Amino acid sequence: MANILITGGSGYLGGTLLDQLKQIPLPPHGTIYALVRSEEQASRVRECYGAEPLQLNLSDQGSLTETLLAKKISVVFFLIDAIKADAQLLLIQALAEVGKQLSVQTHFLHTTGAKLFSSHAGHPTDRVLSDAEKDLYRIQKTSRSPFPPMQQALVTNSQIIEAAEARGVRSYIFIPCIVYGQGTGFGNYTSIQTVAVIQAARDLRRVYKVDSARAVWPVSHVHDTTALYIQILRKLLSNDDIPHNREGYYLASSGTVAWEDIYSSIAEAMAKRGFVDNASVVQADEEALAKMGTALECPAAFVPVQLGGTCTLAADRGKSIGWRPSHPADHILETAGDEVDVVLGYFGSK
Ligand SMILES: NC(=O)c1ccc[n+]([C@@H]2O[C@H](COP(=O)([O-])OP(=O)(O)OC[C@H]3O[C@@H](n4cnc5c(N)ncnc54)[C@H](OP(=O)(O)O)[C@@H]3O)[C@@H](O)[C@H]2O)c1
Repeated sequence: MANILITGGSGYLGGTLLDQLKQIPLPPHGTIYALVRSEEQASRVRECYGAEPLQLNLSDQGSLTETLLAKKISVVFFLIDAIKADAQLLLIQALAEVGKQLSVQTHFLHTTGAKLFSSHAGHPTDRVLSDAEKDLYRIQKTSRSPFPPMQQALVTNSQIIEAAEARGVRSYIFIPCIVYGQGTGFGNYTSIQTVAVIQAARDLRRVYKVDSARAVWPVSHVHDTTALYIQILRKLLSNDDIPHNREGYYLASSGTVAWEDIYSSIAEAMAKRGFVDNASVVQADEEALAKMGTALECPAAFVPVQLGGTCTLAADRGKSIGWRPSHPADHILETAGDEVDVVLGYFGSK
């Protein structure tokens, strides 16, 4: 029976995934290990998720291979770093040894982000782009982003697929989008993009839009997102041959929403709570972008990457393996007030 390693247990996605795994029945499997970096995290993963804590040096090939072999880990879900490929490539090499020495099929899932399939990464946005599109690997491989971290993350996705393919490991590129809803792990329970919109608005006391056109982006409730991770895991544990490597892109999304509508619903919720002075949304000029950059601790030029842009990627692959999101895309607009409360409760309202 396969033993599984899940990383990022103190994070938003990894924590919620481990919390959900505790509650949802899986096909027969061995031990679920959770990667930890401290004794405190070790006791929290045991107590909160019923998982077995595991400390690993993610930059040491020898000890990684030795540990994965000793623990007979054949499935790794990586939810730590979408940009660099260093640890992932070492884990893939370690899984290849597990596959060879134990004669088992091994699997590596990498968590990337929808930004890598968007206008920010030079992807086509004039049509719906399916995550099941045959050409997606080539589109990713030949795309160029003007933003160095995004370019690096594009290369990372291709490197992971190619390294896994060359070593007989099956890889899956998992694509979270705008994820919302309170996480249920013991650590971070807030997401990324909604946090950026709310934090910038809190500091500027106004919600600004950064795109001139009506830009759209896929959205997903955190529990729909973790449900897709779990559906992939179910299929792996059942030895089902699901699309992998160059065909293994899995977007978790229930549909797209316009950024403008997200901004408006957040502006309304923040105005009601007295965090912004006006419930209407205005176009950001250079001065506003500079201030938003200060609020988000990034250059002004990177602000539109944090909370804008167009992504027309659609989620078909997950549905083909039996995943069904249970929150419609508009749910993010209806629950904007809850999101504001969660984010400002976590990061503070001042
Ligand atoms: N949340 C979203 O909406 C979203 C959308 C698209 C893509 N993603 C991507 O998905 C991944 C997970 O996102 P998240 O929101 O769950 O992030 P998060 O809440 O910041 O969690 C990151 C997790 O990674 C762990 N970690 C970081 N560096 C590590 C290292 N060197 N060794 C071991 N563990 C390490 C952290 O552990 P510590 O607590 O010990 O630091 C934490 O558990 C990220 O790569 C993110 O870019 C997320």
